[in-house]
Amino acid sequence: MLKAAYGGREGRAETLRRFLTLDAGGWRVAVDGNTILGCVGALDYGRFAYVGMMAVRPDAQGRGIGRALMQDVLAWIGDRGTASVLLDATAAGAPLYTSLGFADEDDVCLYTRAEAAGPTARPDSAITLGPDDVERIRRLDAPIFGADWQRLLGLWLAAFPGRAFGTRDRSGELSGFAIAQENRIGPWVAREAAVAEVLLVAALSLRFSDAPSVISPGANRAAREVLARYGFAQTGGTRHMRRGPGVSQERASIWGQVNYAAG
Ligand SMILES: CC(C)(COP(=O)(O)OP(=O)(O)OC[C@H]1O[C@@H](n2cnc3c(N)ncnc32)[C@H](O)[C@@H]1OP(=O)(O)O)[C@@H](O)C(=O)NCCC(=O)NCCS
Repeated sequence: MLKAAYGGREGRAETLRRFLTLDAGGWRVAVDGNTILGCVGALDYGRFAYVGMMAVRPDAQGRGIGRALMQDVLAWIGDRGTASVLLDATAAGAPLYTSLGFADEDDVCLYTRAEAAGPTARPDSAITLGPDDVERIRRLDAPIFGADWQRLLGLWLAAFPGRAFGTRDRSGELSGFAIAQENRIGPWVAREAAVAEVLLVAALSLRFSDAPSVISPGANRAAREVLARYGFAQTGGTRHMRRGPGVSQERASIWGQVNYAAG
């Protein structure tokens, strides 16, 4: 259903499984008998919730299913006492979200690497991170992401063994980290462009199942240039929208999101 609604060849089954392991409470499907017509999911990070994977089967669109799914998931978020909701909206979804009180806050750019760009040599300064490093990552990441999402980070670190990298500052504290997923680099976080670049080079020393992509907040003005040096060009983008009170995030230090659904 997701493939039919979004088009393209990206598989989302593994990602969905991890989301449902994390907390199935925020996920909804619309059904007709045994057929799934639509779905949406929310991740409640406490300081804000993130909504994603909003889709309705092409032959069932325009009948109010999307609106009903979104209203239901927003009620779930509200009942939990979480006032702010973020999402990354396609052009198809944005009018619906605007009518439900969402407003533009930033945009989000999708960069994809040219197939021909070859692997890089892994830099010595990049260390490998694993599930035991969640607490170190959290110390760096929480003020940048604006919420604690260590359970999600733990799941993603476990899902991609040997594919998470970090850098250390002079005092030995973590100064950046990146996870190379199957074909996407993210989460990828650093306050300095030079650190982000080391992490990118480390990630690109690995193999990817398809041309790797990166989803970067528009507020990170340096990402485009750094990525261009390694063969990435913009291939898409979405609107970053918010409903409810403002949230504190350092979006210029976010180089790669997990995906569009989780931030
Ligand atoms: C976005 C999407 C989930 C909306 O689902 P839907 O069931 O078609 O939406 P609804 O029927 O509830 O319509 C909601 C609003 O969308 C807009 N809309 C729906 N169909 C539309 C159409 N054919 N043309 C223009 N606007 C349309 C309208 O603003 C509508 O508002 P209304 O209720 O005041 O009429 C669906 O179009 C979809 O799956 N698109 C492809 C995947 C995607 O882009 N998902 C969004 C990710 S952010």
